[in-house]
Amino acid sequence: MQEASEVSVSGSRYAAGSLLSVAHLTVNEVSEILAQTARIAAMPHATRVEILAGRRIALLFYESSTRTRTSFELAAKSLGATTTLVSDKSSSIEKGESLKDTGLTLRALGAECIILRHASSGAPFVLARETGLPVLNAGDGMHEHPSQALLDLRTILTRLYGAARAAAVDERTLEGVTVVITGDILHSRVARSNAMLLPRLGARVILCGPEKLLPEDARRMGAGIELERDFDRALRQAQVAMMLRIQKERLAGLELDLADYIARYQLNGERLAASAPKAVVMHPGPMIRGLEIADDVADGPQSAIEEQVDHGLAVRSALLVRAICAGEFESATV
Ligand code: NCD
Repeated sequence: MQEASEVSVSGSRYAAGSLLSVAHLTVNEVSEILAQTARIAAMPHATRVEILAGRRIALLFYESSTRTRTSFELAAKSLGATTTLVSDKSSSIEKGESLKDTGLTLRALGAECIILRHASSGAPFVLARETGLPVLNAGDGMHEHPSQALLDLRTILTRLYGAARAAAVDERTLEGVTVVITGDILHSRVARSNAMLLPRLGARVILCGPEKLLPEDARRMGAGIELERDFDRALRQAQVAMMLRIQKERLAGLELDLADYIARYQLNGERLAASAPKAVVMHPGPMIRGLEIADDVADGPQSAIEEQVDHGLAVRSALLVRAICAGEFESATV
């Protein structure tokens, strides 16, 4: 018999409240997370800070991060939790300690939830299995970044429909919405999680980029995924234009002609005005200004990039409550 506090995915058991992949979430659960996000965002500080008062949350980061790490940490603190950060530099990981032993150490120190960023795809699954704790995947290699897809979803809903309609979704919510994701799709866990999530809510997702960064088999990322190599043609169909960084650290010998890339795929003011003058512009960060995106677009009125960061704080608060209060999800909010 499975424990009430566990969920079973493909034969493996993970603590309920874990978020390892967007594929593990039903549309109804996505909707619950958005509702919880909206409730927490509307709460006065004094109420919010009671929700996870006295609880311990560990952030375990094997790769660099600014937005994801800081927003999880600030979200945890805004809920009253105590956080501790372990990074691969400056910890016993440098001395060769394994992921399993690091996780067991954090559990022995009282951590009730671990947020993990790791260079290896699948690492959060291993950590969740070995520790039995709820684990939130904060990016695993080239695999997934589920909390990013959820904050992107809240950003899209808020921009297109207004805040009041960002608290619930179903299979048809994004019908008629085309999201164009452009750039280094091959190495992007953000692209993968979005491509897996958004079509389940009715969106059309077009992936755009050169063959080297967008192989033909990227269609397999999700049902209904389309590929378009011509950026302007893709942009003309977009309600949302999501730009991605070229992940130099993962290129592994792959050579790119950057001048050609900029000419064909940079989102600049001229291109945006000509092909998508109303589209919402997004970027998960970090942006390389002058490469995939020009200053005038990044700082322009169509840009929702700072809103994405803000929604990240809200969505991650809901994910932490879900992780730690699994089973008492509703009652944790009142
Ligand atoms: C991304 C990541 O680390 O996957 N950033 C993020 O978390 N917001 C994208 C990137 O590194 O380019």
